[in-house]
Parts: sequence; C-alpha cells; structure tokens
Amino acid sequence: MGISEETAGKGDITFPKGFVWGTATASYQIEGAAHEDGRGPSIWDTFSRTPGKVVGGHTGDVACDHYHRYRDDVAMMADLGMQAYRFSIAWPRIQPDGSGPVNPRGLDFYERLVDELRGHGITPIVTLYHWDLPQALEDRGGWTSRETAERFAEYAAIVHGRLGDRVETWTTLNEPWCSSFLGYGAGIHAPGRTEPGAAFAAVHHLLLGHGLATAELRAAGAKQVGITLNLAPISGNDPLAVAHIDGLQNRIFLDPVLRKEYPADVVERARRFTDWSFVRDGDLDLIGAPIDLLGVNYYSPTTVELRAGQPANPVHPGSEGIAFVQGDEERTAMGWSVVPSALTDLLVRLSRDYPGTPLIITENGAAFDDVLVDGRVADERRIAFLDGHFRAAHAAIEAGADLRGYLVWSLMDNFEWAEGYGKRFGLVHVDYASQNRVPKDSALWYREVVRRNGIRS
Ligand code: FCB
Repeated sequence: MGISEETAGKGDITFPKGFVWGTATASYQIEGAAHEDGRGPSIWDTFSRTPGKVVGGHTGDVACDHYHRYRDDVAMMADLGMQAYRFSIAWPRIQPDGSGPVNPRGLDFYERLVDELRGHGITPIVTLYHWDLPQALEDRGGWTSRETAERFAEYAAIVHGRLGDRVETWTTLNEPWCSSFLGYGAGIHAPGRTEPGAAFAAVHHLLLGHGLATAELRAAGAKQVGITLNLAPISGNDPLAVAHIDGLQNRIFLDPVLRKEYPADVVERARRFTDWSFVRDGDLDLIGAPIDLLGVNYYSPTTVELRAGQPANPVHPGSEGIAFVQGDEERTAMGWSVVPSALTDLLVRLSRDYPGTPLIITENGAAFDDVLVDGRVADERRIAFLDGHFRAAHAAIEAGADLRGYLVWSLMDNFEWAEGYGKRFGLVHVDYASQNRVPKDSALWYREVVRRNGIRS
C-alpha cells in the first residue's frame, strides 16, 4: 500500500458545513416513571412483565429515571457539546388509552424537555413512535388493525399541536421492521405475537400510520418530516437469497415510502402468509407522499448463503433454505459484526436507488462490556467503532451521498429491550442503583469530533 492511501484512510477528515452531530434515545428505554402523571400502560410494560421475555426480568419502570432527571441530562448533553438530540414521545403519556382524551401532563413533560433543550442550544428531533404502543390499542389488534394507523395520525396531530411551534424535525416511526417482524412475526419484541401473516399486516398499517401522520404534520405546517428505518446491507454468494432477505429487510419499507409501491418479488413470496387484502386503494399514495429526510439506523450488515434443509429464521418469514452467516470480524457485546465499510455501501446504495432524499443517520453505535474503574470508563473499542463509522459516512459523502447528520446511539446506557440493562450502548455510563452518570472516554472523544466537525488523527 502506498503512503498516500494509508494517510487517506487515517488522516484528518472534515464534514460539510452545517453537518449535525448529536445523540439519540427512546422514551421507554430511559424515562422510567411508568405509572406517573397519568401515563397508561404500553405493550412494553406488558411484555417486560411476561416471564421469559426480557433478560433478567427487567422492565422500564425506572430505567434511567430521565423523566425526573431530564434537566441534568440536558445539561450533561450540553457539556458534551451535542448539537441535536433525538428522543421519542411516549404515546401512552399523551393518550393513556391510545385514543380519545388527551393527558395534558404528558404533553407538559415534553414541552419542558423541548424548552430545556432549546435553552441549551440543542436542536430537538422528535420521534413519534419508538415502540411503546398503548396497550389498549394492542387489545384491539395493535398494528394488525387499520384503526391503529388512524389513531396514530390523530396522536401525531395532538403532539404537533403542542410542540409544533418549537420542533422543526419530526420522525414518524422508528424501525417499523422491528415493530412488525420482531413484534408480530418472531415474538422477540412486544407484543410478542408469532404469526408471519400478522407481521405483514403490521408492516402495512405501520406504513399507513406513517403516511396518515405525515399528512397531518404537513397540514399543520411541520417543517421537516421523515421516517427512520433500520437498514442493513445484505451480501452473499447467491443473488436470489440476497434479494429475498434484502426485500424483507430493506425494500419492503423503502419502496412504498420512496416509490409508492411494494416490491413485486416480496409480495409474491409473502403470499403463503397473507393475501395482502389490507392494502386499499389510495394507501400507497399516502405512504409514498414526499418526505424531507430519511432516517437511517445502521448497526451491522447481514450475510446469507443457500443451505439445503435450513429451517426458516422466524425473524424473516419464508427464509427456509437460507442460512445467516457471520465472518470473523470483530463483534460487539450484542454479537453484531463490526463492518464500517457496509455503512458506506448502504448510504451510496440509497443515494443511487432512491435519489433525491436527504439522509441522516438517526442511530449508530455499539454495546461493549464497559467497566467503571475509579470514576472512568476507558471504552477505546467504542471510540474505534465510532471513528471507523464516521470515516465510512464521510466516504459516502465524498461518493455523493446527501448525508446531513449523525446521531450516535445512545446518549446513555439504557433498557436494551429484550436484552434488559445488561447491554450498554451509552456514551455515558449509568449506574442503575445510584442513577449516577459518568461520561465514558468515548463521550469526551466525541465532543472533540463535534467541536472540529471532523476527526483529527
Ligand atoms: C435499535 C433501536 C434502539 C436501540 C438500538 C440498539 O434497533 O431503535 O432503540 O435499542 O437498536
């Protein structure tokens, strides 16, 4: 390798002017105060109380107690130089039963949070749905029911009515793939159903909810509206297997939102589970209405190969004969392989296949087995992970991707869904017994990245 190539890989890089740096969290993962100020139960309250569903029987009842500590948390973010903060609104705080009467104390909390952020010069980025569906709606069918999409749009309008004068950027859904395929297909997430047909109905009603909510937000004058998808580059030695899994993971969401159509191959393959009769005339026009920003959550790529006799992976309905394989790359504490170059590939592919939509990384980060020693967490593996992924994002920008910002998952350690509190994704360490927060070395390193708008080797 020539010297110039080496320095190009490891040297200084600067991001475009105006590039936005920040972090992300989600309501159920950090807020706690599960029974306070009129909050109703969500599907994650129910699921986390169901024996065997969450490691250690953990729940979000207390979590990071952010509901009470949000002022300190915002001050901490400001100290860390964050420019933007993506958080989610808990629908059951706003409408405890998922429809009907509004609980003003829920809206009050988010208004206080937004004001606190703005007071510190941090741009709020609101996610309307990060998985905590009001249980009352699940009892009526949840995302398998069209009604949930309609209620979601009403809820979106209510939230915008209170916060719309001070929040510019709105994300409707976080990772509808997880809500549908993990929640209704594989039963790994709430509500824990294991019916592939229900997963496809959930995909459509989530997307319809996005479309209906987008129309409401637009009508109310929202400045920037988008959706966040968890996308993974799929590779492997068999093009059909790759197309199959890419369809289920990526195109089933990207194509309706950005091209107003479901991918024909996915529709055909799913016919053994569903007749798609839940798709009505006009739905795809709503779902495919223009968005201003596509949120990309990227963690790890997927590699597949054909293997005779392989049973279907319940997470990917109809994947019989396809094996999911991992190479010998480094893995995080989640077991996810670390492949920064796949982020470049993903962003470049999105710009090529779905041109014209600005991109923002709404989540990227890693869990490692961090330890607090003498008041310090020396998480050099997280620093290396972020360094590699920031460089990969920069390479995508150089290749023409219209990437506008980068939000690291997560501000602080939190409730990692079915994994409970054991998996630590935070830039800030949380001692759950004392609720003490300690910025890890990665947080201090990240502060410098933000300050320089780039990386200096
Ligand atoms: C994503 C979720 C987020 C967090 C990270 C690790 O799938 O959106 O809440 O759990 O994974």
